[in-house]
Amino acid sequence: VLADYGISPTHGFLPDVLPLTRLPDPYYNKWEAIAANLQALILSKRLRGVVDRLPVLDTIGLEHDAEWRRAYSLLSFMAHGYIWSGDSPSDRLPPSIAVPLLKISEHLEVPPVATYAAVCLWNFKPLFMDEDIDNLENLATLSTFTGAIDESWFYLVSVAMEARGAPIIPLMLTAIAAARVGDGATVTRCLHTFAERLDDLTTLLQRMHESCDPKIFYDRIRPFLAGSKNMADAGLPHGVIYEDGSGKEEYRQYSGGSNAQSSLIQFFDIVLGIEHRPTGEKRGRPQEQGEVHAPAPKHNFLLEMRKYMPGPHARFLDHVQSVANIREFVEKHRGYRSLGIAYDACLAMLRALRDKHIAIVTRYIVLPSKEVRTRSRSRSPEAVRRKINLATASRQQPPGIALDTRGDGKKDNLKGTGGTALISFLKQARDETGEPAVEAW
Ligand code: HEM
Ligand code: ALA
Repeated sequence: VLADYGISPTHGFLPDVLPLTRLPDPYYNKWEAIAANLQALILSKRLRGVVDRLPVLDTIGLEHDAEWRRAYSLLSFMAHGYIWSGDSPSDRLPPSIAVPLLKISEHLEVPPVATYAAVCLWNFKPLFMDEDIDNLENLATLSTFTGAIDESWFYLVSVAMEARGAPIIPLMLTAIAAARVGDGATVTRCLHTFAERLDDLTTLLQRMHESCDPKIFYDRIRPFLAGSKNMADAGLPHGVIYEDGSGKEEYRQYSGGSNAQSSLIQFFDIVLGIEHRPTGEKRGRPQEQGEVHAPAPKHNFLLEMRKYMPGPHARFLDHVQSVANIREFVEKHRGYRSLGIAYDACLAMLRALRDKHIAIVTRYIVLPSKEVRTRSRSRSPEAVRRKINLATASRQQPPGIALDTRGDGKKDNLKGTGGTALISFLKQARDETGEPAVEAW
């Protein structure tokens, strides 16, 4: 069944066939040449000119899925490079990118932007073919915006986590099947292994600090991952027009790339029966009586992010959701001590992973954003703006912050590239991870 959903029993949501390092058909040499020189073209501010002169290539030369995925990744990097380099963000993508990117996205069932799939899942290679890809020392990226090792590392930590987490997928499907037939010993054993693997994943996540510098991440890398939704602060008030030749001048808005688009972590939540509510909503709140004003419908960001996953992966999550039974099984067998302990260990480990992630977000986004604002108070706004990053406009701000150039303490409007109010959103997701703990052992 896993293969039906484009999932590999050994690589999980990473493709079974390794990402191609090049499109085989020489017809696509121009795309490959741009991607190979992306950093230089961005640095010299020549990317837009080159893309504007690029012919509209057909998708007819793309055969296997690996080729479609490579093409998607290349065009996503070109698209975000095009939008976020130069003196101000571009609210148009020319036909040379828009036409093929839209077709390829439709084929792969992904949105036409730099998703987690474009920059992580389908953008790595092993250094040594005979070594595993769950080892960070055996991974390299194919494309980057900046060429900085910090950017490669940022993507590769995720790739290694996907690979290391992959065996958890068949493992927990086994647990679901075992729970169905009342085999508590197998469920317990699977949960036990799951908890250990989660701990491994947290160790990997912590390695972000080794080779990704927060300042470089915040100033140089992150601006390219930005989306086109709610980006007025960064100079894209309406979104982006994809010039697809239809003559319709329609603005589109998408979230930026975010690891919230990882199917693996959502899979963990689903198998453990963890429920994530719309942002800002407390447990039991929808049933509360006597609300004078009905609360505005809240938006469930994590569910929304499933639309940014490859279609088959999102369908897999829906399917698993419909058969997930572990939590129910554990609750029904409250006297089964080792089972309860193993289940709670998984929750504790997943919560610990989210705790470490919050610490990362503080170090990589919250603190650097404050520094930008301090810098902006102490120097001329113009000088500071020029220094902030290479990607955003001289009169614009890097995505995710409302730059307090006036030093008047105006409330900052810090947002994740996915569009969340980051820390409060992440803390809610962490707190919800603890909730189903089966109490009173
Ligand atoms: C969500 C930042 C690395 C997993 C988020 C969000 C931010 C963020 C701001 C909120 C959603 C948004 O608006 O984008 C960062 C930063 C990282 C980093 C700054 C490193 C420098 C990772 C890695 C993973 C990861 C390596 C690997 C598992 C997640 C998940 C979510 C998320 C699963 C969704 C929320 C949740 O399920 O708790 N991240 N992230 N992040 N991130 Fe990261
Ligand atoms: N989602 C991460 C951020 O907001 C990449 O920076």
